[in-house]
Order: sequence, then structure tokens, then C-alpha cells
Amino acid sequence: MTIHITPSGQACGAIVTGVDLTEPLPDKTVDAIRTAWLDHHVLSFPDQAMTDDDLERFTRYFGDFGNDPFFDPIEGRQHIAAIRRDADEKSPLFAENWHSDWSFQAHPPAGTCLLGITIPPVGGDTLFADQHKALEAMPPDMRKQYEGLTAIHSAQMAYAPDGAYGEKDEGRSMAIRPHESARETQTHPLIREHRETGRLGLFSCMGYIIGFDGIAQEEALPLLQQLYAWQSREEFVYRHQWQPDMLVMWDNRSVLHRATGGYDGHDRLLHRTTIAAYQP
Ligand code: SIN
Repeated sequence: MTIHITPSGQACGAIVTGVDLTEPLPDKTVDAIRTAWLDHHVLSFPDQAMTDDDLERFTRYFGDFGNDPFFDPIEGRQHIAAIRRDADEKSPLFAENWHSDWSFQAHPPAGTCLLGITIPPVGGDTLFADQHKALEAMPPDMRKQYEGLTAIHSAQMAYAPDGAYGEKDEGRSMAIRPHESARETQTHPLIREHRETGRLGLFSCMGYIIGFDGIAQEEALPLLQQLYAWQSREEFVYRHQWQPDMLVMWDNRSVLHRATGGYDGHDRLLHRTTIAAYQP
């Protein structure tokens, strides 16, 4: 089999064919996938009827499993979470705001793998925004406002007991487990080098970023709002349309992502793993 990488034609993303992810992969194929992942930031692999074992094996080619707080894993697995919404579910959509997975951790996951299992016939696309392009295209006056800032990250708005997925969030089919530990904070440079490519990018956004070190909240909030609007501009976005048996892997150091709705009345189920921070 010969691996083919076809760019999406949008801001980022590529489709990978000519590879069978239900079988162990030779080193040279893993290397080719890693190179394509670093170049395109989001890779989709159609027609991969993968089991959970296959998903775990594929994830481990790219690093250790990440640590996934605030979710219960699926039964019988430690490292797979179900991203699930039932046809009749009324709770707000999960992950509808832009984010970089678990950016509030000391060592956030390098990547995420998501396997489409039950895919609705309409809606449910995932959007990705290229944060290298967002930084590179930023007007110099605006960029000056963000150069050198240290962002304060926290999961509190989402996963604290009074957060969006907290105790008042009822009727959700996903196994989300809010916790007081979501109030902990962690800092990361807002503009930082990608650890494998060295390319500069914006890391994470308002939501998990709750402020900036040494900047009063009245000043930080408009800065965060302006940044969020910039980071998610159409010209930086790739819209991913799912198919059953499609695996997607993305690079949390390079892109933001968000879920979209539009599939009320249909079930949606995907299995997710995270790839731990890069250890050279
Ligand atoms: C996620 O952010 O992990 C889920 C994205 C999606 O459901 O499209």
C-alpha cells in the first residue's frame, strides 16, 4: 500500500489514504503520518473500521496516552472517552466553544485522536482553526498587544461544580465528572514555539484562558475577546465533515477546534484518545 496525503484545500487539514489502521504500521508509515500531521495539523483517515484496540495502538505510535480529567473512560478502557450525544438530548452541545484540549494542564496533550462510530446524516462537523496562520496574519499593532504575555489557564468555567458541565448540567449522555480541582490554574506563554517544528503560534484561547499574568481582569477580558474573534476568523478555519469509520487526529499545539450541532434527532458517537505532551 502507498500512503497518499491530499491537502483539504482549506486553511489546514489533509486526507490520508493508502494505509490500513486496523493493522500494525511499519515505522516508515508512522514517520510519514507524523510528518503529515506536523505539516497539516489535522489528518483524516476515511474507511478505517477500527476497534478500540486499533485506536489505542494507533495513538501510542505518537506518544504516551494523555491524562484525561473530568471524563469517565468507556467501560473496560482507561484511555478512551466517548464523545456522545443522543438523538433526544436537550443539554447544550459539548465543546461548542473554540479550545485546545486540556490546555490548563502543566503538560497539555500534543494531540487528540477521534474515531467516528455513529455519525449523523446531517450536521455535527468539527471546525479547526490554524493558530500558526492566525499569528502570522495578525496586524503588527495587534500582535504588539499580545507579544510576551503569559496566559493563565483553568478548567473552572467548564468543569468546576458551578461550571458549564457542572452540577446544574442535566440530561447529558456523556460521562462528564465535574470537580473542584477544575479551579486550579497553570500558565503558558500565549505565543509559543511548537515543540517539534519550532513554528510560532497562538496557544489556546478565551475559555480555558481566564486572564494574563500581571494584567488586571478589566484589561485582560477585552484582550481575550479581541483575540478569540481573530483566532477563529474564517480564513484560518478547516471544516471537517465526518463519516462513520473515519479517524481524525489533530495537533493541539497548532489548532483550536470546536464542535457544531445541526443534528437534533440523530445519535452521534465518537471514541477519543489524547496523545501526551511530546517527549523527545
Ligand atoms: C472534542 O472537542 O473533543 C469534540 C469535538 C466534536 O465533537 O466535534
